[in-house]
Amino acid sequence: MKKHIKNNVNWVGYIDWELKTFHGDDYSILNGSSQNAYLIEEEKTVLIDTVWAPHRFEFVENLKKETDLKKIDYIIANHGEVDHSGALTALMDEIPGTPIYCTANAVKSLEGQYGKRGWNFQVVKTGDTLEIGGGKKLVFIEMRMLHWPDSMATYMTGDNILFSNDMFGQHFAVEEMFNDKADQCLLMKEAMKYFANILNPASPFALKKLAEIREMNLPVDIIAPSHGVVWRENPGRIVEKYAEWADAYQENQITVCYDTMWEGTAKIAHKIAEEVSRQSPDTTVKLFSIAKADKNEVMTEVFKSKAIAVGSPTATNAILSTVEGWLAFLKTLKFKNKKAAAFGCYGWSGEGVKILKERLAGAGFSVADEEVKSNWNPDDGDFAKIPALVKSLLA
Ligand code: FEO
Repeated sequence: MKKHIKNNVNWVGYIDWELKTFHGDDYSILNGSSQNAYLIEEEKTVLIDTVWAPHRFEFVENLKKETDLKKIDYIIANHGEVDHSGALTALMDEIPGTPIYCTANAVKSLEGQYGKRGWNFQVVKTGDTLEIGGGKKLVFIEMRMLHWPDSMATYMTGDNILFSNDMFGQHFAVEEMFNDKADQCLLMKEAMKYFANILNPASPFALKKLAEIREMNLPVDIIAPSHGVVWRENPGRIVEKYAEWADAYQENQITVCYDTMWEGTAKIAHKIAEEVSRQSPDTTVKLFSIAKADKNEVMTEVFKSKAIAVGSPTATNAILSTVEGWLAFLKTLKFKNKKAAAFGCYGWSGEGVKILKERLAGAGFSVADEEVKSNWNPDDGDFAKIPALVKSLLA
């Protein structure tokens, strides 16, 4: 069912209440999601993006209820990733010659995924425009690396709508569609989780692009991303948030993350959390078992943190595989301006803390010399090292 956005613009996407994971199983979905597609019916009829492949037939059938498919003059593919292009195959079977406006890189990603099907690609660059009648036009803005090399946004003049694709999106199902109708706490939490886990590596590109869009001086009344809510009430708010988040964001928070074999490393983790609170009662402290907690939720907490403490016991001359994998993911997110410290127990060889420090430095963290490395079980001598470790994280 379509949802009205503004004047002759309707949402024609798919609200995915059942979705539990995204990017395979790499991103947890706790509050549903949506794949937003939009239908513009001015003198020209324009479809902006589609939905994920499993919903392609339902999407095309629903679209037929809104318009004669043959009336669609232009398709805009802002991004080739399958959650937005997945219905193109079914749609293009019905209207094979319809021009698809996209970046040169999107031609590569679409043909790479779906094969060379003879689709009528029209390659566009930043500043290119397309007249759609009624004195309105579409302006294309390449969004390279936000978050794929093929990404693009489309701005509609007259109605002043920025179809921003993944940027400003969230994995969040909101049947009411608009930001002012959504649960505000969940909305901002999901927007931040999306940024921290998907867009943060592209922060330098985001800052540059935000400045470029500001210079284009386009009045923006609505931001319509490809996931989650449509920002119609104060859309500048999410733009300001992105400017903050992309600029080495941190809050007054310390997060302790660990895994443990026989509870020794867990004991140190809890003592560190207590000590942070003792030394700095105003600092928010969070603690997670890396093996048990949701990886993407934890990374959102790391994103908010000014410092983290990471613990693992030494196991077979290494750290636990849970922590090794977690640190590999941490590295990909390219967080900046954060401190870290390492801790852990060992029985025999004891290189775990050294490995943790190397991994944390490799992930871009400023690593404290202070550490807690406990032989067998932590004793008073080990716990006595915690205040100095915490002090270095709070400094
Ligand atoms: Fe929502 Fe990059 O796809």
